[in-house]
Amino acid sequence: MKINMNSLPQHIAIIMDGNGRWAKQHTMGRIRGHKKGAQAVRTVVRSCREIGIKHLTLFALSTENLGRPQEEVSALMSLLEEYLSKELKELQKQGIRLTTIGEIEHLSATAKEKLLQAKDSTANNDRMILTLALSYGGRDEIIFAVKKIMQDIKGNKLKIKDINKDMFGGYLQTAGMPDPDLLIRTSGEYRISNFLLWQMAYTELYFTDVLWPDFKKEDLMQAIASYQKRERRFGLTSEQLDNNNNSISLNQD
Ligand code: FPP
Repeated sequence: MKINMNSLPQHIAIIMDGNGRWAKQHTMGRIRGHKKGAQAVRTVVRSCREIGIKHLTLFALSTENLGRPQEEVSALMSLLEEYLSKELKELQKQGIRLTTIGEIEHLSATAKEKLLQAKDSTANNDRMILTLALSYGGRDEIIFAVKKIMQDIKGNKLKIKDINKDMFGGYLQTAGMPDPDLLIRTSGEYRISNFLLWQMAYTELYFTDVLWPDFKKEDLMQAIASYQKRERRFGLTSEQLDNNNNSISLNQD
């Protein structure tokens, strides 16, 4: 699979779906599926770094996922803790910075502690930013931003007339990050599932039937190749894009 290294997506976001179905297909328990899914996380993080992707955001746990049976939630916590313990050295070596979005106070104390440690010790890395969405929900993120804006208005730090699309993005947890160029969702489901709702206004969506535990570098390359065949118009016409030399900024309507 060939991809054009001159027009890589700057930011890839992934909804990693299908761990449970993978386990069922292999007549194993769901937790074995998540374990295999964690291996796929390692592979994809390394592949994105190798290819030269600047931002990778993984939907590792939604707010709703925390409502799954206690045994499954604990297993997911343990896998996250294990991933952080085992991969920290590798993240350092590869110059990858780890960040999170979501409400990490809902995670286990150990996971939280390991996350803070990993965020801290990788804070100066800049080859790639790996963002884990953990106990994350897009609607909650937007509501939280609105509340913060209201507080700033009340505190005379902000005026209503100054509210606009750009500054709103600065109130979200992804502040400072470019919006995703490409969203990949595995396992044949065609939904956004409350992921990065504001940020995905112009994101190219790519759906594959591959179950997350089976997702490999070749599948990632295929998704990037599909992205590269698309014409991103951001609401404009093809002719306008040609005139602008394809250099329309992401924030344009
Ligand atoms: C979706 O599969 C996946 C999740 C809810 C969790 C994702 C977690 C991992 C990939 C492993 C741990 C993460 C890290 C960062 C080490 P599903 O259980 O909804 O699958 P199903 O729809 O087939 O049941």
